[in-house]
Amino acid sequence: MNRVCILGGSGFVGQHLIANLAKRGIRCRVLTRHPQRHANLQINPGMELIKSQSMDADYLAGQFEGCDAVINLIGILNESGKRDTFRKIHTELVDTIVEAAIKARVGRLLHMSALHADAARGTSEYLRSKGEGENRAHTHGGTALNVTSIRPSVIFGRGDSFFNRFAALLKLSPVFFPLACPKSRFAPVWVEDVAEAFARCLTDDKTVDAHYDLCGPSVYTLQELVSFTAKTLGLRRFILPLGNGLSKMQARLLGHLPGRPFSMDNYLSLQTDSVCEGNGFEKLGIQPQAIESVVPHYLAQAGYRGRLDRYRREFTTRT
Ligand SMILES: NC(=O)c1ccc[n+]([C@@H]2O[C@H](COP(=O)([O-])OP(=O)(O)OC[C@H]3O[C@@H](n4cnc5c(N)ncnc54)[C@H](OP(=O)(O)O)[C@@H]3O)[C@@H](O)[C@H]2O)c1
Repeated sequence: MNRVCILGGSGFVGQHLIANLAKRGIRCRVLTRHPQRHANLQINPGMELIKSQSMDADYLAGQFEGCDAVINLIGILNESGKRDTFRKIHTELVDTIVEAAIKARVGRLLHMSALHADAARGTSEYLRSKGEGENRAHTHGGTALNVTSIRPSVIFGRGDSFFNRFAALLKLSPVFFPLACPKSRFAPVWVEDVAEAFARCLTDDKTVDAHYDLCGPSVYTLQELVSFTAKTLGLRRFILPLGNGLSKMQARLLGHLPGRPFSMDNYLSLQTDSVCEGNGFEKLGIQPQAIESVVPHYLAQAGYRGRLDRYRREFTTRT
């Protein structure tokens, strides 16, 4: 494996994955709409950062030329406008990527899905569109493209949107912190473990056609995770667990704010516990790390500041 093309490689997971692959001597070609924002990625040896001109199959096939594999990390948590809908990004774009990979004779696709993504039974449009995209990647790939899907629970690590987001929100809340869906359960998974799973799949043919659910070693309720965040930051906040009606109301309200900190679709995703029945890490020979041994190292520093800057940027581009 010499060179891979990563779509969505400029994001949180992508940055950690690129560093992992670079250490193995694998060259990464990353397409992004905003190369100037991600110039820091160039520190990785063998890195090509390319401004994406289009997302049509012919253009993508041209970018995939010379690559041994394509990794698709593109995803959104909320829809914005008519162009960035869950269907377009998680489902239709996957068709285009598969078509382009086959055209360029790449032969291998690693596809990032999500835990409990399910085209028919997903509780939210996020989960249904991810499930449909995953199905299409495997079926449309046919015999021409060897596909593996990765399906993690919520991912944590330096630069994450989960602990850093709650850290920023807790900092802004004076005393009380009203929390929607406090009983939703998660098995948070470390981004370095996810990157390692991708790297192992790239080089192991036994992973072809597989779908790997990835979970961390422990399960927590959302309330426990927010309390852990506050404790790690040394903040005294009274976490106010909201019942179902108030959780929905909060989603409706916050879904109208710029940057949508919490939306109705996010609320619907939280109706499914993000926990595994069988953990793919075991099959891949990876021992996943727990939040307690990782999160305090980045959260107590200026970790939340990066995300705050990002929200500020999102806010200014959308208003
Ligand atoms: N983070 C988690 O907890 C978690 C959990 C389960 C699954 N996942 C999945 O893992 C993947 C990566 O997540 P992440 O946290 O790294 O996301 P992220 O930081 O938000 O990055 C998303 C990436 O997708 C690209 N992207 C977004 N909209 C696009 C569009 N309309 N056209 C082209 N590119 C677009 C962005 O590229 P630009 O540089 O062009 O902006 C960015 O690199 C996603 O598919 C996500 O659904 C994440």
